[in-house]
Amino acid sequence: MGKKILVTGGTGYIGSHTVVELQQAGYEVVIVDNLSNSSADVLEGITRITGKRPIFDKLDCADAEAMNALFKKHNFDGIIHFAASKAVGESVQKPLMYYRNNLVSLINLLELMPKYNVKGIVFSSSCTVYGEPDANPIDENALIKPAESPYGNTKQINEEIIQDFVHSGAPIKSIILRYFNPIGAHPSAEIGELPIGVPQNLVPYITQTGIGIRKQLSVFGDDYNTPDGSCIRDFINVVDLAKAHVISIDRMLGGKSEQPVEIFNLGTGTGLSVLELIKVFEEVSGKPLNYKIVSRREGDIEQIWAQPDRANNVLGWKAKETIEDTMASAWKWQQRLKEKGVM
Ligand code: NAD
Ligand code: WQD
Repeated sequence: MGKKILVTGGTGYIGSHTVVELQQAGYEVVIVDNLSNSSADVLEGITRITGKRPIFDKLDCADAEAMNALFKKHNFDGIIHFAASKAVGESVQKPLMYYRNNLVSLINLLELMPKYNVKGIVFSSSCTVYGEPDANPIDENALIKPAESPYGNTKQINEEIIQDFVHSGAPIKSIILRYFNPIGAHPSAEIGELPIGVPQNLVPYITQTGIGIRKQLSVFGDDYNTPDGSCIRDFINVVDLAKAHVISIDRMLGGKSEQPVEIFNLGTGTGLSVLELIKVFEEVSGKPLNYKIVSRREGDIEQIWAQPDRANNVLGWKAKETIEDTMASAWKWQQRLKEKGVM
């Protein structure tokens, strides 16, 4: 029997892809999710890919008692903590909800780890902790700027909570992964991103426009100081991203961490503009996309892409998928949703 990993938020977008990779690497997975932003149907997709149904418990990580009972029942070797509220705009409207959910969930897990002898936790952080970079690509030593949203602040505070706890002598290790812009879906199209309501993020908006659910994509600004005037991001394939979690778990639980807390950027190292990404979509889907340029979206970063050398050299992880294959996977997923009548 492989090592047992608790995956919080495991029915969510990045969590579900990571569960697949963990199972395929021989780990036993227990998912907890409160289904606030996902559906238990995802478990069917995971099972169709791996042939093995992960254990699932519908639980809220912010519920300390329920989490204690869960830890008592299972002998976890490690944790990957995805569960969080993640909508930047909503966090401005409901800051206390964001602080409660994202901070209390992590604190509960950290308190339980020494009690039940759980050795390591991988934490989902974000390039949002960097704010607007002074220079690109940006590496892990860059200054952390004041957060631009309550959501971003929860990621900064979560990182600090982990650092403080480990430095207090807690017998745990942590790997903090700062994701850039995760996109795409599993190549099987059995799992993918399932935004509830109108998508806030670019790629689901593009694919929903392509398939006719949305009339037109609004491109937020073409007057930025970039070659084509649109914003630049580092779009990272979600399966590549998921694989970095398996490598991180192997490393931590295998006693190979060089520091009790290690931080890695997860990106491709290449910046792509919004307009360039639209072109890639048009190529792989074979159809023009209906879009128009509108004014800038408040709070957007002009340009950011990762310096991924540390993840490449220390973790031995590298983004492999091309942007064409990644956009094709997002498109295939969108078409599958239509076939199934989900959207
Ligand atoms: P997601 O919303 O698809 O997945 C998060 C899952 O956590 C959802 O299934 C939700 O139901 C669950 N959840 C939320 N609060 C919970 C709680 N208290 N208890 C149990 N389950 C809870 O989001 P995602 O895109 O897969 O993101 C995963 C993680 O990665 C999050 O921590 C997010 O902040 C972080 N992240 C995401 C991105 C991105 O662009 N998707 C970028 C950087 C970082
Ligand atoms: C990308 C680009 C938009 C939608 C967010 C969070 C960040 C991280 C990743 C969690 C921007 C443009 C978008 C649209 C557009 N998440 N755009 N029309 O803002 O880079 O990052 O997700 O940690 O914290 O802030 O991602 O996909 O929303 O936008 O023109 O309808 O696409 O202006 O330039 P973003 P995004």
